Amino acid sequence: MKSNELRSLYLKFFEEKDHAIIPSASLLPENDPTVLFTTAGMHPLQIYLLGEPHPAGKRLVNSQKCIRTGDIDEVGDPSHLTFFEMLGNWSLGDYFKEEAINMSWEFLTDPKWLGLDPNRISVTVFAGDEEIHPDYETAEIWNKIGIPKERIFFLPRSDNWWGPAGETGPCGPDTEMFYDTGKPLCSKNCKPGCSCGKYFEIWNDVFMTYNKTVEGNYEKLKQHNVDTGMGIERTIAVLNGFDSVYKIDTIEPIVNQVKKLAKIKNEPSDEEYKAIYIISDHIRASTFILGDDKNLIPSNLGQGYVLRRLIRRIIRQGNILNIKQKFLPILAQIVIHLYKETYPELEQNKDFIINNLTTEEDKFTVALKRGLRKFNKILVEKGIITGEDAFLLFTSFGFPLEITSELATEKGIILDLETFRKEFEHHRELSRKATAGTFQSGLADHSTRTTRLHTATHLLQQALRNVLGNHVEQKGSNITTERTRFDFSHPVKLTESELKQVEDLVNQKIKEKIPVTKEIMTPQEALKKGALGFFEAQYQSKVSVYSVGEFSKEICTGPHVENTQEIGKFIIQKQQNIGVGLMRIRATIED
Ligand code: ALA
Repeated sequence: MKSNELRSLYLKFFEEKDHAIIPSASLLPENDPTVLFTTAGMHPLQIYLLGEPHPAGKRLVNSQKCIRTGDIDEVGDPSHLTFFEMLGNWSLGDYFKEEAINMSWEFLTDPKWLGLDPNRISVTVFAGDEEIHPDYETAEIWNKIGIPKERIFFLPRSDNWWGPAGETGPCGPDTEMFYDTGKPLCSKNCKPGCSCGKYFEIWNDVFMTYNKTVEGNYEKLKQHNVDTGMGIERTIAVLNGFDSVYKIDTIEPIVNQVKKLAKIKNEPSDEEYKAIYIISDHIRASTFILGDDKNLIPSNLGQGYVLRRLIRRIIRQGNILNIKQKFLPILAQIVIHLYKETYPELEQNKDFIINNLTTEEDKFTVALKRGLRKFNKILVEKGIITGEDAFLLFTSFGFPLEITSELATEKGIILDLETFRKEFEHHRELSRKATAGTFQSGLADHSTRTTRLHTATHLLQQALRNVLGNHVEQKGSNITTERTRFDFSHPVKLTESELKQVEDLVNQKIKEKIPVTKEIMTPQEALKKGALGFFEAQYQSKVSVYSVGEFSKEICTGPHVENTQEIGKFIIQKQQNIGVGLMRIRATIED
């Protein structure tokens, strides 16, 4: 089975069960300062799981682009990926355990859908702990469906509890479905959840009934939700009986191209496989990050730094494989080609993707050669690499920490990784004191300050358009409790007087005490009414539009203040030119 087929089947199945198909949200989360990338389908839906009505209804389904960098060091083996697509269906206060499980079972085992052998499916359920009771109800539902008790396993919170995605938010016990690959048990204790590869997790149904608060307590939510997740890449590998996710239809063409570029004709060695896999995974992640409509570019901070690390690791692995030519754009074209129907933004942002990869490859290929010389020199002179050396390699040659650490390991130097990392981070922190605080108090709850800053950001966008012209469009936004950061299209830096006009206009609208209102409508109606944000929202059936009087109208998920007077005083702190035709403004509020 191919990825496109699985995706279509899944969407069709749930559409037949009255779910509205919603588009994948951006990979770069809005208004969530604790997480850099969207890590699961539920991530952009958190406010709806907490009770806000979703414009498309109570039953949703989609395929979400996700990035998880937590396991980035494991990438290089046959199963780990940083970028993947997650299929998911949601009940927002609608159906609950029984219906969710019945639908999962039908989709997995009915020959009309995946038609998997029911005898090869095992499940796990939450075993309970001192805070939350065991989930006997779910176990019973599985038993009623026909799974014998021997294939229902009670596992602890570390296995069968999901969320929150950030520090706070919706979470709950889950039940996971595993497929038996037929391999022998690795030990007497081997069971679903064991990492030996006998049992492959294919689906997770989370019963989101709790909200984790800032204090760390679990509060019952006012509604019962279901959040499920099925990774396309892993499931396709299982369905085809592959022993590696890198053999599936959306990855193998990249692997083959890498082999060709590296002139590898025979079966690659383990070392070569590792490099091929890292390149293939990271080019997917980098292409999708660059291809997101937010136009994020490689940098030394936050999301931009992760992107830079991914790209530079590809180049370094290419160096290990002795690839002589420029190769990132060649690989990115394959990724775009493979996904352009499902994620049209890749084709639309193709030039942006290719240009940024080319620039980064040009810069780093030269720096890599010089940096490698410097690395060897330090090694000959001192016989050791310290955190301070790593920092120098980072600032002068653009070596992300893990490249230095990988190089050291290859040279047989045992690094005290913890001390090394600490020392490196210490130097790095010192150098970016100016921006410290950005992530300090950031909790993913919608604290009043982030809500106030969010409404202020809408006012800012409209004020920029009034002062500079309607070519100004949002290209990205990130809000923490400290400040808002707004990226937009404009060819040059603003003059002092323009900045002042923008700031004054926002403050005037705050003083006017304008009520903020929300309406639900189709994207077409929103477009007719002149709401901003149509482009990203056009594939949804219904959207929320927030208006600040007649001044501003935007398609947005909220939350917002009720009246602009709650915002306080608006202050622009800084502007930056962050790319060709791309400006950034940082602003904050005072009581
Ligand atoms: N949010 C759940 C997961 O990512 C479904 O596994």
